[in-house]
Amino acid sequence: MGKNSEVDRDAVVTLKEEFLPGVFRMCLETGEVFCANAEPGQFIQIEVSPGPFPVTRRPFTISRAYSSSIEIIFEAVGRGTALLSGVETGSAVRVLGPLGSGYELNNGGWLLVGGGLGAAGFPGLVSYVDCRLMLLGASSKDKLLPVPEVSLLSITEDGSSGRKGLITDLLESVQWDSVSNIAVCGPVAMMKAVIQNIPAEFSSRTQISAEARMGCGWGACEGCSIPKAGGGYLKCCTDGPVFPADSIDWERWEGIH
Ligand SMILES: Cc1cc2nc3c(=O)[nH]c(=O)nc-3n(C[C@H](O)[C@H](O)[C@H](O)COP(=O)(O)OP(=O)(O)OC[C@H]3O[C@@H](n4cnc5c(N)ncnc54)[C@H](O)[C@@H]3O)c2cc1C
Ligand code: FES
Repeated sequence: MGKNSEVDRDAVVTLKEEFLPGVFRMCLETGEVFCANAEPGQFIQIEVSPGPFPVTRRPFTISRAYSSSIEIIFEAVGRGTALLSGVETGSAVRVLGPLGSGYELNNGGWLLVGGGLGAAGFPGLVSYVDCRLMLLGASSKDKLLPVPEVSLLSITEDGSSGRKGLITDLLESVQWDSVSNIAVCGPVAMMKAVIQNIPAEFSSRTQISAEARMGCGWGACEGCSIPKAGGGYLKCCTDGPVFPADSIDWERWEGIH
């Protein structure tokens, strides 16, 4: 399911709201087949403008799939996302997806660790797995995503919501005997720090969701390379964006950020 079932279609925007400053929730009517094929962790490529700029589409995690529409959560960080944030409800945008490889949905308890907008994919994931605890970290409460009803601990760097500190500070609160699987998503330095601070026996049971700069989104341009453990590169768009944490060369990846 999922892989090789992508479609390129117009999708009507049925909802758009700015629920945090500069952070938007958008629902796109992609149809039942698209939604049935979407797996947690997969992404879409959106043509943010019908005009000549920008040339390439922009990738976004499928935050949640409903029966015939999907939801994305995005932050306006540059020209492409600013254009997308200006699309009106009722208009259509071109959407390619579902793309890439999502999470291995293994049995057992899950710990979800998200930094900032990295948690955008967690609403969909928690409906598929036994989530025992979610840890969320952000620079301030303006960047802390609301999440579904799960056991949650949050922390902000400025102390404006939850504890003050870094997300790695929350790892001391985890009851490790209830955890079998870990999902981590966020900036590279944050993911590396989390992986360095979890008990060693969990490294082979940790999956990360990567965000690399992308061109095509389907394996042709090699613009999304991520250093692979042991040498060489992985393609974020087709080998991922979800990867086993131990398949990544974290030193080399952090070095190119
Ligand atoms: C698989 C995948 C899933 C993603 N899911 C989400 C999501 O759910 N929500 C969300 O808000 N964003 C997500 N992103 C990041 C999003 O695609 C970028 O923020 C967006 O493409 C920026 O476009 P822009 O034209 O606005 O910014 P640009 O003008 O191109 O760049 C503005 C700034 O954003 C940075 N940036 C651009 N692209 C990326 C990227 N891919 N990763 C990290 N930083 C980037 C640039 O370095 C620059 O500092 C995802 C990226 C990938 C690869
Ligand atoms: S974005 Fe083109 S190969 Fe991955």
